[in-house]
Parts: sequence; C-alpha cells; structure tokens
Amino acid sequence: MTFTDFKTYFQANQGHYADLAWDDPHQLTAAEMRAVRASLQTFQRGESSEGHFLYARAKRLGDDEYTAAMRLFIKEEQTHAAVLGRFLDQQGIPRLRGHWLDTVFRGLRRVLSLEHTLRVLLTAEVVAAVYYRALFSATYSGLLQQLCRRIMLDEEMHLNFQCFTLRHLSAGRGGVGQWLRRHAYRALMAGAALAAYAASRPTLRAGGYGLLSFLAAIAAEYRRVEGMQRVGALIAVRGGQPVASEAAGPVGAWQWPAQQLRAAQ
Ligand SMILES: [Fe+2]
Ligand SMILES: [Fe+2]
Repeated sequence: MTFTDFKTYFQANQGHYADLAWDDPHQLTAAEMRAVRASLQTFQRGESSEGHFLYARAKRLGDDEYTAAMRLFIKEEQTHAAVLGRFLDQQGIPRLRGHWLDTVFRGLRRVLSLEHTLRVLLTAEVVAAVYYRALFSATYSGLLQQLCRRIMLDEEMHLNFQCFTLRHLSAGRGGVGQWLRRHAYRALMAGAALAAYAASRPTLRAGGYGLLSFLAAIAAEYRRVEGMQRVGALIAVRGGQPVASEAAGPVGAWQWPAQQLRAAQ
C-alpha cells in the first residue's frame, strides 16, 4: 500500500455530491433550526480551509504521490464546505466568516510540523466523525441526512489517510518519548472534544449525545485511530473489507465501501 493508492482513491471519489436531492423542498423547522443552525455554520467554516500550510508541509516530505494525495484531500474537504454552504444558503442560514474554534485549529496548524499538524487535524476528523452522526439524527431533512452520510463516508477514508501517514512518520519510535507523545495527543483530543461539545451542544443533544456519551463516542473513535497507527494493524473502512494491511498491496483495496456503510453507526 502506498500514497499512490490514496491519490487514486481521492481522484475517483470526486463529484459524488452532484446527485443528491438538492431539490428537496424540506425547510428546517424552528426546532431543527435551533438544534443544527450554529453547529452547521461552525462546521461549514471549519471544512473550508484552503490548506496552504498543510500543503506546504506535505510538499516538504519530498514524496510527489503524497503531495498529490494531500492536494486532493484538501480539495475534498473544500467540497464538504461547498456542499454544506449550499445547504446553508438554501435554508437562509448565513455563512460564518470566522469562528474561535476554527481560528484555534488553524493557528495550531500554522506553527507545527507535518506530524503535529496531522495530529491536530486528526482530532478534528475524530470530532467530525461523531458530529455528523449526531447531525444525521438531529434532522428530518433528507438532503441534510444525505450530506451527512456522504461526508461520513469521506471522513472514514480521511482517518485512514492520516493514520497511514502518521504511521509512516513515526516509524521506529518507541520508549518514553513515544509514551509521552501519545498521552499529550490524548489530552489534545480530550480538549478538542470538550471544546466541540461546548460549540455544538444543541446538535449533539438533539442527535442523542449528552456530554458523557459524546466523550465516550470520541474515546471509542480515538482508540480506533490509535489502533490503526500501530505497526502491522489493519487500516480499514469501518464495517467493510480491510483497506490495507502492511502486507497487502493496492489490488482491490479501493473499492467503494458497501452501501450499508453509508448509514450512521
Ligand atoms: Fe470534511
Ligand atoms: Fe476530513
């Protein structure tokens, strides 16, 4: 398995938002609006990063295939921002120009190395994995649910991509340094989860998550991504065939996950 496989996947995964039910007439009710409005604005803003710093750091790694995969990954995140923005426009919800949580994440990513930048990004991806599940359950809008499902599916592969890269970047490390790093990243994850809960509480609650169940869901997600970073562990799309193992080649690895994976779990 190589970065070329990720590049190939991201290339093949473009343009899959055009066939959604964009003509869905459902207007969010007042209760739905209260539940999802603010967090949708925040996440739309968060997905819209232009990724200049991330791309520049990826380029420094000196692997053209990784750089190409990263460019496509950034483009996919921008697509998420674009489709969420289109939904906001349809619902008459203004787009945000900035949000403190987004500013913190962007600020951190500007000053860090590629590895630390990816670690920060990974915490945001883990939060997103749980958030879109909650958002799916918090609305009766068929279009918004379709958006959630597709984004969740994309985010699955984002988690795999970051884990694969991080495994590559931290290969051969061990000992106390690695133990300390792992716990520092867990603390970062915990902080990000609390901040995300504070910023998205109405959506999370409407989607069935209280603070404790949200933190438990984040912890489960994070355990999973920690597991995928271990040498020899499978990097897999949830509930589907393994995407890759250390030994597996790219053949057959980039099938679309089965349809049932599109449902929230
Ligand atoms: Fe995204
Ligand atoms: Fe993502």
